[in-house]
Amino acid sequence: VISRVIGREIIDSRGNPTVEVDVELSDGSLGRAAVPSGASTGAREAVELRDGDPARFHGKGVRRAVDAVNDAICDTVVGLSADDQASVDAALIDLDGTPDKARLGANALLGVSLATAKAAAASHRLPLYRYIGGVDARLLPVPMMNIVNGGAHADNPLDFQEFMIAPVGAATFAEAVRMGSEVFHTLRGTLLAAGHSVNVGDEGGFAPDLRTADEALEFVVGAVERSGYKAGTDITIVMDPASSEFFRDGAYHYTGEGVRRSPAEHADFLAELVERYPVASVEDPMAEDDHEGWRDLTARLGDRCQLTGDDVFCTNESLLRAGISDGIANAILVKVNQIGTLTETLATVATAHRAGYTVVMSHRSGETEDTTIADLAVATGCGQIKTGSLSRADRTAKYNQLVRIEEELGSQARYAGRDTLRLRG
Ligand code: PGA
Ligand code: ZN
Repeated sequence: VISRVIGREIIDSRGNPTVEVDVELSDGSLGRAAVPSGASTGAREAVELRDGDPARFHGKGVRRAVDAVNDAICDTVVGLSADDQASVDAALIDLDGTPDKARLGANALLGVSLATAKAAAASHRLPLYRYIGGVDARLLPVPMMNIVNGGAHADNPLDFQEFMIAPVGAATFAEAVRMGSEVFHTLRGTLLAAGHSVNVGDEGGFAPDLRTADEALEFVVGAVERSGYKAGTDITIVMDPASSEFFRDGAYHYTGEGVRRSPAEHADFLAELVERYPVASVEDPMAEDDHEGWRDLTARLGDRCQLTGDDVFCTNESLLRAGISDGIANAILVKVNQIGTLTETLATVATAHRAGYTVVMSHRSGETEDTTIADLAVATGCGQIKTGSLSRADRTAKYNQLVRIEEELGSQARYAGRDTLRLRG
C-alpha cells in the first residue's frame, strides 16, 4: 500500500528543471523515478507543466507539477495498492480530468506512475523488467545509438536530427555496446582528421559542422567500416530526420542545405538515401501533419524499411489506431512522457504489436540518471531501444543498465539482433 509520495524539482541533462518522485510503501519499499523532457516535441503530446515564472529557471520551473505531486496526487494515491498499477494510473488520469493531462501535468503524473511501479517491484523483490514483463522478459533490445546529432539537438547546420548505428550483428547486448563504442571512437578520429569539431550534442553524439545528410551518412558508414564491421550486416544505419521540425506551409525547409522540398521531393530524397546507404529504419520521415506524405511513403518504402512514427503518434493509443487504419508507418517510437502513465504506455505497445508494428523504446533529448526505459524495453520484449550515443552519463546509464540486466538473465538472455528490425534490404 502506498504510504508516502514525495515530489521534488531536480535538473535534467540540459540543466533544466524536471520532476522526480519518491513513492514509499507501507512495507518500507521505495520507488524513485525522474521524468525526461523533449526538445523536438510532437504537437499532440501530453502536457509538460512548467511554471512560466521568469524569475526562476527562465520560466521552466516545475514547482506547480511538484506541488501537484505533494498535495492533490499524494492525497489521492496514498492508501492505494501499488500492485494495482492500472488502478493507480486510472486514479491519476481521473484526478487530472483533462484529455492531455494539462491540469496537473503529465510530468507530475508520470513521475508518480513510474515510481509506483518501481516501489511495487522492490516490494516483490523483483527487478523492474521482471515485475512488469514476467518470466518471459528476457529479450535484450538492439540499441540505436545516435552518434551524429543535428536539428534541434545541436548547434550545427545539419537539418536531420539523428544519425544512428544499430549493431544488429552482435551476439549479445554487451557486444553491441562494444561495437557501438568502437565506431563512436573511430568516428571521432575521422571527424578530427577532417578538421571537424568533436563536441557533442544533447544526446552525446558528435555535432560537426556538416550541412547535408549525405555528408553525415558518409562519415557514419565510413566509421562503421573502418572499425572492421560490415555496414548493413553487422551494423545498420538508422535516421531520425524529425521532419516535423522543418515542415511548414506544405514544404520541407532544409535550411542547412539551403533548399526547399515539396513532400514528394522530400520523399524522393529519403527513398534515395535508403537506396544508397544501408539505412534500415527511418523515424519521422514525414511531418506529423503531413498524413498524405506519410501514407505515400509507407506504401512506397514500408516493405523494405522500418518507418517509425514518433511525433505522428506521440505514444498515444488512439493516434496509433488511427495511423494503423490509415496505413501510416510500420513502427512506433514509445516515449513514456508523451503519454504520462505506465499503463497507457503498455497499452500502446500492445496495440502496436497486435497490428504487426515494431516498437522502439525511447529516451528524450532531456534525460536524467533514471534508467526505467531500459527495463521497459526488456519488459515489453520490444527488441529495440533508442537512448543516445556512447557518451554522456544520462545516455550510457541506460546502456549500462541493460548490460546489468543481460548479466542477471545469464543464459536466459537473448539479444534481439537482426530479426527485430524490419530489415528487408
Ligand atoms: P526529443 O527528440 O526528445 O527532443 O523530442 C527525440 C526524438 O525526436 O526522437
Ligand atoms: Zn524522433
